[in-house]
Amino acid sequence: MRNLVIAVDGPAGAGKSTIAKIIANRLNINYIDTGAMYRAITYKCLKNNIDINNEEEVVKLAKDTDIDFRDNNIYIDGNILKEEIRTMEVSNNVSNVAKIKEVRYLMVDVQREIGKRNSVILDGRDIGSYVFPNADYKFYLVATPEERGQRRFKELKEKGYETTLEEIIKDIIKRDEIDSNREFAPLVKADDAIEIDTTGKTIDDVVESVISKINL
Ligand code: CDP
Ligand code: CDP
Repeated sequence: MRNLVIAVDGPAGAGKSTIAKIIANRLNINYIDTGAMYRAITYKCLKNNIDINNEEEVVKLAKDTDIDFRDNNIYIDGNILKEEIRTMEVSNNVSNVAKIKEVRYLMVDVQREIGKRNSVILDGRDIGSYVFPNADYKFYLVATPEERGQRRFKELKEKGYETTLEEIIKDIIKRDEIDSNREFAPLVKADDAIEIDTTGKTIDDVVESVISKINL
């Protein structure tokens, strides 16, 4: 099979990672969760008591961090990261880390390097618009903020997190705003991306819509 790049972008909770993981399995290609990279840097900053608003310090930490993906898992400095990057504390801070241009340069280099070597599906905010403007396929998933909040709430409840629907909706609306309005590589639908409104749709419905557009 030729080297394939599939971009899946959209706002928080639109279903990008869920759909991208299933498609990766179906097509037997790699899956890269680019949001996990920004979350990992944020997590490391918080753990090291680095002030997220101190760009210089955050960039220095990012430069000193080794990020890798193996078997669809993210590793920083050789250690696997799982649920610790999904907390509300990380969610509340990640967009302020991700708006730093130098941090993005570092993450995008890793993403492009992986895409050069492997067939890959990546989910994020700027994959189709900036990281891989020549991707073979580009999808842009959307859903209403209420539905995205409900989905995330259900997921976090099931994992045992103490949180409220209001807090989650507030977080995703705030992140969407910072992500859409940042100066460099904001959240935006690429002109040639296929937009799929996932509101009221099951995961299977969305997977089928995506798969039906891919000709191998
Ligand atoms: O899964 P969820 O939608 O909550 O977020 P995520 O995909 O894990 O991304 C977390 C944050 O990382 C986003 O809110 C963005 O601020 C940032 N991000 C980004 O700026 N660019 C990407 N390609 C991926 C994520
Ligand atoms: O990666 P992103 O933030 O776009 O969303 P996600 O983490 O893949 O999905 C958020 C939650 O919505 C997950 O618990 C999914 O099971 C659920 N969901 C979905 O992804 N797609 C639907 N059509 C319905 C529910």
